[in-house]
Amino acid sequence: MVSPFKDHQSHSPSYTHSFIKKILPYFIYVILPIAVIRLYLYSPTLPQSSTVHHHLPQPSTVHHLPHSTTPISITTPSSSSSSHEEEEKKPEAKETQCDYTDGNWVPDKMGPLYNGTTCGIIKEGQNCITHGRSDLGYLYWKWKPKQCPLPRFEPNTFLHLLRNKHIAFVGDSMARNQLESLLCMLATASPPKLVYTDGEDNKFRRWNFASHNVNVSVYWSPFLVKGVEKSKSGPDHNELYLDQVDERWAADMGKMDMVVLSVGHWFLHPAVYFEGGSALGCHFCPGLNHTEIGFYDVLRKAVRTTLKTITERRETSENGINVIVTTFSPAHFEGEWDKAGACPKTKPYNKGEKNLEGMDAEMRQVEVEEVEAAKVNGKGFSGFKVEELDVSYLSLMRPDGHPGPYMNPFPFFNGVKERVQNDCVHWCLPGAIDTWNEILLEIMKKWNRG
Ligand SMILES: *[C@@H]1O[C@H](CO)[C@@H](O)[C@H](O)[C@H]1NC(C)=O
Ligand SMILES: *[C@@H]1O[C@H](CO)[C@@H](O)[C@H](O)[C@H]1NC(C)=O
Ligand SMILES: *[C@@H]1O[C@H](CO)[C@@H](O)[C@H](O)[C@H]1NC(C)=O
Repeated sequence: MVSPFKDHQSHSPSYTHSFIKKILPYFIYVILPIAVIRLYLYSPTLPQSSTVHHHLPQPSTVHHLPHSTTPISITTPSSSSSSHEEEEKKPEAKETQCDYTDGNWVPDKMGPLYNGTTCGIIKEGQNCITHGRSDLGYLYWKWKPKQCPLPRFEPNTFLHLLRNKHIAFVGDSMARNQLESLLCMLATASPPKLVYTDGEDNKFRRWNFASHNVNVSVYWSPFLVKGVEKSKSGPDHNELYLDQVDERWAADMGKMDMVVLSVGHWFLHPAVYFEGGSALGCHFCPGLNHTEIGFYDVLRKAVRTTLKTITERRETSENGINVIVTTFSPAHFEGEWDKAGACPKTKPYNKGEKNLEGMDAEMRQVEVEEVEAAKVNGKGFSGFKVEELDVSYLSLMRPDGHPGPYMNPFPFFNGVKERVQNDCVHWCLPGAIDTWNEILLEIMKKWNRG
């Protein structure tokens, strides 16, 4: 079988030994794992993920869930559409602080807004029902925050709020996954028209919703900062330039009103990092003369550079810019990626059954901290709003939401084989990821209320 998964890495004991004391947390979660699997699911140059198996005691769990929706009062950026937006300002229930991260999944008879037939935009690998996934229980759950209701997604409200505006999703295949969920839900109210496509595997695309003159686009940029992706003809590791944004998306920044940033999994790849014109270190680069520095601080620098550059470039512009950072989405490998049952669950975890911990918690924490820092740094710029879309915990609780073997059509058509590829990273559409966009809309509604 031709595998899209490459570069299984094994880490020799002697190699790992020298790092133990130096980078213990990193060692526990990343070096020690029996296998770090890199899934190339976003073919041909794609994302990946890792399975992290370890038998060491868990360090105290990082489970700090801030109130991601604390009201902030910032003037709505002036725009030609303000009259339309006024119409949209229906009286809302009294503003309460709702922590959307704290809640649980409850059964929901309603089911999704769309299906693979009504939405023609779903990437093959995530179109689970069309690929033969027959247990459909995973479609009938709803995220219930403890402190407030989370309304079902309202496509017309979303489009109204973005009238005459452009929302861009920038990041890796999780950004694309979230974008496709959004497009499918919006398409139930208004047909999108694909107006632009470029790049291998449609990595850069834009749709226009004529009904509200809303543009929705996606930009492939798995590091946000400038990077050279590992390739057959180039280096066998990624190269990241942590002090420069990736101009493949950033060059269009002036035309964006809202940006959703979503990265994480690609930072686990072997890479060499540069800053200020010289090499800073690397991650998993035996044979190269660089210092191993892990990837948490690297992710931090990449997010920081990105948010800083957005404020610097846009603070002098007339229109503001709203920025969302989608936090790390945990993978759910329970066994080997290429064996049946790699992510076999068909129901969410019960509350308390699972805590956000280890790498998932660290990655999220870095992103949340950088967003909180950017809020402070951007205070002087009235047109800049930034918020984390904190999906890490609610996504962790959905081991049932991944394509698993249904990343490929009818994987068991000829009976159950010993080896079968599994995707336990991305999310089936429709599915749990639709909730991310429900929360995104709540953040936008809150911003609009000012
Ligand atoms: C998809 O949704 C449409 C419209 O609601 C419905 O007619 C169709 O039967 C659905 N298809 C499947 C496969 O559920
Ligand atoms: C949407 O994109 C088109 C180009 O494809 C552009 O002409 C138009 O001005 C954009 N509209 C908005 C609201 O960004
Ligand atoms: C590795 O880097 C160190 C410090 O930069 C340098 O002194 C040494 O010569 C390098 N070794 C090789 C094999 O390049």
